[in-house]
Amino acid sequence: MSQSFYITTAISYVNAKPHIGHAYEFIASDAIARFKRMMGMKVFFLSGVDEHSAKVEKAAAAQGLPPREYCDQMSDVFRDVHARLGNQLDDFIRTSEPRHHAATKEMLRRSYENGDIYKAKYAGWYDLTAEAFVPETDLPEPDKRKNIEWIEEENYFFKLSNYTERLKEHFNAHPEFVQPDMYRNEMLALLDRGLQDISISRSTTRWGIPLPWDETHVSYVWFDALTNYLTGVGFVHDMAMYETFWPADAHIIGKDINRFHSVFWPAMLMSAGLPLPRQVFVHGFINHKGEKMSKSIGNVVDPLSLIENYGCDPLRYFLLREIAFGRDGDYSEDSLITRYNADLANDLGNLFSRVLSMIKKYRDCVVPNGAVDDSLRGVIDRVQTQYAEAMNQFMLHQALVAIWELVGRANQYVVENEPWALAKDEAKADRLDAVLFNLAEALRRTAIMVYPFMPSKAMEMLGDLGLPREGAPMLNQLDADACSGVTVTPGRSLFPRLEREEAK
Ligand code: MSP
Repeated sequence: MSQSFYITTAISYVNAKPHIGHAYEFIASDAIARFKRMMGMKVFFLSGVDEHSAKVEKAAAAQGLPPREYCDQMSDVFRDVHARLGNQLDDFIRTSEPRHHAATKEMLRRSYENGDIYKAKYAGWYDLTAEAFVPETDLPEPDKRKNIEWIEEENYFFKLSNYTERLKEHFNAHPEFVQPDMYRNEMLALLDRGLQDISISRSTTRWGIPLPWDETHVSYVWFDALTNYLTGVGFVHDMAMYETFWPADAHIIGKDINRFHSVFWPAMLMSAGLPLPRQVFVHGFINHKGEKMSKSIGNVVDPLSLIENYGCDPLRYFLLREIAFGRDGDYSEDSLITRYNADLANDLGNLFSRVLSMIKKYRDCVVPNGAVDDSLRGVIDRVQTQYAEAMNQFMLHQALVAIWELVGRANQYVVENEPWALAKDEAKADRLDAVLFNLAEALRRTAIMVYPFMPSKAMEMLGDLGLPREGAPMLNQLDADACSGVTVTPGRSLFPRLEREEAK
C-alpha cells in the first residue's frame, strides 16, 4: 500500500470573493499535493469554505439573502476559482453540510464529556473581522475599533488554559510541528505567557451549529471551522477513510491564523482524544505594490482577471517563484510581466522551441539515441537532488530556482556546442546526435520537475517531446533517459512574449 499524504488549505470565509492571497495559498498547496502524487503517494487534498460566521451573516444580509442562499452562491465562486487555477482537489468542503455538523457535534460532545467545556458569563470585546475575542491588553485605540464590539452574554468556554503544558511538551518533542521556525517561536512565546480559556459558543446568532447539550447556543466559528479538517477525511461518517488519512500531514495556512491552528486546534484534538496533525506550515502575506490589500484602499487583486490576461500556469509560476514560501511577498503587474518575459518566454520558452526545431531540421523530428553527457551530468544530478529536497521541505521557490539552473545550463550548452556548426560537418554527426539527445533530455526533466507548478504547460512539453501522456509524470521517471528515438512535434510557442503595455 502506498503511503498516504493529507494536505489542507484554510477554508475561506465567503463574505467576499477570493483574492490573490487566497489563490496563492491554494496553488502552493496544489503544487505540494501534485509533487507528493508524483512521488507515488496516496494524496488527499482538501479545500473549502467557512460559512458560519458573523461576517458572513452580515454579508448575506447586506445582499438581502438568507445566509444559506448567499453561501450557495459564494461557495460556487470559490469552487470555480480552484478549477480555473488548475487545482486538483480531492474534495471541497462546506461547513454548512450535514456531514460537517455531525463531526463538529461529535468534537463538542467529546470535549464536553471530558470536562473541558463550561458555561460562564462573557463580557468583553469581539473583533468581527478576525472573528476573535480581544483581550483588554490588545485593544486598539477607540478610533481604530471599527469592527470591534462590546459583548455581554452567557457563553460556553473551552479550558484552553489546561493545555499549556501539554502543548509546550508537544512543541518541544516535535520541532517540525509548526514551520517556519519564526512562526514556531511566535507560538512558543504565546505558550510561555500562558493560555486563557476561550469562548466557543454564541447565543445571539442562529447561523451556526447548535451545541448538542444546549441548542440555544451555536458553536463559535473556530471550533466549527477547524473541525473541517476531520470531516473532510470521513470523521464521523466514513471512519475507514479517516483511518487512512488522519492525522493530516500538512495544514497550509496564512500567518494571521497561526494561533488557531497551532495552539487551539491541537488542544481541541487532545481534548477529544484524537491524534495531532504532523505539521502546520505558515505562509506569509501578499501585499500589492508594498501595501496591504484592502477593500477600503481599493487595491484588492482579482486572480481571475490575471488568469484571463496571462494564463493560469504563468500566474502559478510567478507567485510561487516570486515569493519565498513562508515569508511575506509582493505582487505587482510589472514584476509579473518582467518574470514572464525573462524566465518563461526567454529562458524556457525559447530553449524549448529552439531545441525542437533543431531536432526537426537536423534529424527529421526524431531524437537520436543517447545517454546524458558528462558535461550535463553534474548539473542534472545536483538540480534533481536540490529540487526534491526543496519540495519535501515546501521550499517551493527554491525548487524553481533549482529547475532554472538546469534551464540556464541547457541554454549555455546550446551556445557551447553550436549544433548549427556541427550540422555542417558530416564527421561530427555523432556529436550532433549526442547534443540533440542531451537537450531533449534536459527539457524532459525540466517538464517533469515543473509539473507541480505548471501542470498544463508541463503536459504540453511532454506531449511535444513525443513522450507518453497518459496521466501525470512520476518522479521515478526522471532518470530514465527516455528521449532516445522519440518523435517531437515542434511549432508551439509555449510562452509568447508579452509587450508590456499591450499586456496590461
Ligand atoms: N475562515 C478562516 C480560516 C479557517 S481555517 C479552519 C479564514 N478565512 S480567510 O478567508 O480570511 O483566509 C483564508 C486564508 O487566506 C488564510 O490562510 C489567510 O491567512 C489567507 N490570506 C488572506 N489574505 C492573505 C494575503 N493577503 N496573502 C496571503 N494569504 C492571505 O481566515
